[in-house]
Amino acid sequence: METTFAAQPTRPAAIQQASWRDMVAVRRLEEVCFPQDFWPLLEIIGVLSMPGVVRIKAVIDEQVVGFAAGDFRRSDRLAWIATIGVLPEYRRRGIGAALLQECEQRLGKTLAVPDGRVRLCVRPSNAPAIQLYEHSGYQQVSVWNRYYQNGEDALVLEKQIYPGGGRQSAGERRDRL
Ligand SMILES: CC(C)(COP(=O)(O)OP(=O)(O)OC[C@H]1O[C@@H](n2cnc3c(N)ncnc32)[C@H](O)[C@@H]1OP(=O)(O)O)[C@@H](O)C(=O)NCCC(=O)NCCS
Repeated sequence: METTFAAQPTRPAAIQQASWRDMVAVRRLEEVCFPQDFWPLLEIIGVLSMPGVVRIKAVIDEQVVGFAAGDFRRSDRLAWIATIGVLPEYRRRGIGAALLQECEQRLGKTLAVPDGRVRLCVRPSNAPAIQLYEHSGYQQVSVWNRYYQNGEDALVLEKQIYPGGGRQSAGERRDRL
């Protein structure tokens, strides 16, 4: 299944299912988007191949320009957005918001998150990401002290992706975020 949306002012981006075939592109994207703490190759292979993981890419002219992944963790009955990134030259065109929304929808439909709660972590210094998440309806629920390798705290944000705490419809790795 593919969702197409207009990444103004240039050609439309397509949001598509990602797979292990995208390993090289996702690795490059990781290194560019997360210079401080990009995932090692094994982590990328895992996120692109393990069952129970939602993995999507944004594609323009057959180039992967964005990537997001999420999964459901039974231990805390929560879905987590594990990573989201857009190449710098494609930012501020709505691609990050589209990836986030699609990831949430697939988590709800495919993994049937029981309470409808999705969480993610973000550095307090990452203003663009915090803006994106607040814009998308996330609210801070916790702080993890000194979570990141450089000692920075992580803000834990949460969103209720569907009301009522029930299933929407029939459908541990260390986080990037
Ligand atoms: C965070 C990131 C994914 C956003 O991707 P994007 O495609 O630029 O985001 P969008 O264009 O969809 O932006 C959606 C909204 O987020 C907010 N936003 C995004 N980037 C912003 C910025 N640099 N400054 C202020 N607000 C910003 C805005 O509210 C924006 O809506 P608007 O453009 O209508 O004002 C991208 O900046 C990125 O890849 N950063 C590096 C990796 C990273 O930090 N990932 C998140 C880790 S927690």
